[in-house]
Amino acid sequence: MNTPVYDFVHKYAGQDVSRFHMPGHKGKSFLGCEAFDITEIEGADVLYGCNGIIKESEDNLSSLFGTAHSYYSTEGSSLCIKAMLALALQGKEDPLVLAARNVHKAFCYAAALLDFEVEFIYSKASHLCSCEINAEDVKNAIENSKKKPCALYLTSPDYLGYIPDIKAISNVCKEYKIPLLVDNAHGAYLNFLPRSLHPIELGATLCCDSAHKTLPVLTGGAYLHISMNAPKIYTENARSMLSLFASTSPSYLILQSLDLGNRYISEGYRDRLLKTVNDISVIKEKLMSEGFFVKTSEPLKIVFENENATELCIHFRNNGIEAEFCDKDTLVLMASTENNKSDYERLLYAAKSYKGSKKRALKEKEFSFKAQRAVSIRKAMFCEAQTISIEDALGRICACPTVSCPPAVPVVVSGEIITDKSIEIFKEYGIKKISVIK
Ligand SMILES: Cc1ncc(COP(=O)(O)O)c(C=O)c1O
Repeated sequence: MNTPVYDFVHKYAGQDVSRFHMPGHKGKSFLGCEAFDITEIEGADVLYGCNGIIKESEDNLSSLFGTAHSYYSTEGSSLCIKAMLALALQGKEDPLVLAARNVHKAFCYAAALLDFEVEFIYSKASHLCSCEINAEDVKNAIENSKKKPCALYLTSPDYLGYIPDIKAISNVCKEYKIPLLVDNAHGAYLNFLPRSLHPIELGATLCCDSAHKTLPVLTGGAYLHISMNAPKIYTENARSMLSLFASTSPSYLILQSLDLGNRYISEGYRDRLLKTVNDISVIKEKLMSEGFFVKTSEPLKIVFENENATELCIHFRNNGIEAEFCDKDTLVLMASTENNKSDYERLLYAAKSYKGSKKRALKEKEFSFKAQRAVSIRKAMFCEAQTISIEDALGRICACPTVSCPPAVPVVVSGEIITDKSIEIFKEYGIKKISVIK
């Protein structure tokens, strides 16, 4: 597959040009990568008005994912999430979005900026990051929502690697003529498994992938995908909706990285991925035979449920292994095709030498409580707020969810009343202060 963006920048960097354009480093080496860090000069195309090399590269991407079109973001899925919601809201008055509760905070920011109402769907999940819902739950939520929702929004896979039955859920959405939007930040690779588990393949209308999370792409590189079956208005307006929230100075380092990602995928990625998936599956079995409890999850995650996950995380760190996420009872490792045999050997060696408890954490189904909304997300986000101690927050209304626990899933969404249960969770995550409406 060709790499028009990468080729253009490398050719330009090799020429003797006096750069009287941005950026101010003029291609001189400070970090080392500046020669390749350009702006939208002649021939370099314009990300959200492209018809040259960026368009050609995005067409390559679209053919890899089988979409009506796939768009680049150099500002992560955080940007794509806002654009997806803006697209779904076009032409809707007093819009309502149904969303599984484990939203990333980018969704809450979109609700504040676009001023849509949200009805959350809850599950009996035992972790803040999870919301294990099925088609039946979605059907009930649609039937019981106070008005016809303009979209259903899911996070899949979640941070702990859970993937709901998107095919069945998308069939329900089709029955009710509601677009299905999926935050697939963790799942770009899912399209390249022997049987694709990518949301677009399973019936989603719109979906975003953080290419940087599972593919060898620089941090910030992401995709917004529009399905072949989506209304035409989505492809017509996608660039406008992306540029509504995006910087006018996209990083060409990230664009080149996304461009090279296409070649990486087209040249044997499926085989390399299958090998990695098999390797990880063998490692999970070995870890379980060592006595660890490893949760069933999407193929590239290794999720330990452990009564002292923090200690296990520190042990791994002391053995040269840095995890993606850890809280008191869950430890998440994320792999990609770029991990190698010595990474796996190191992991198994560290696991074997662990002397602490391997017992599974005993957890109550603590995230099944339903939050009570007092004011809209927008009103709460832009209100006059004050920061108070968590101890004093009972009964107050959450303002801005700057206190979302790692990894950015809010315990309390803006405009919701803070309960004793939420205070307990904040304390568990070591959060001491919260912003509330004055
Ligand atoms: C589930 C989920 N959605 C969205 C995002 C935001 O993605 P990005 O960092 O690409 O903006 C994240 C980031 O960690 C995430 O975990």
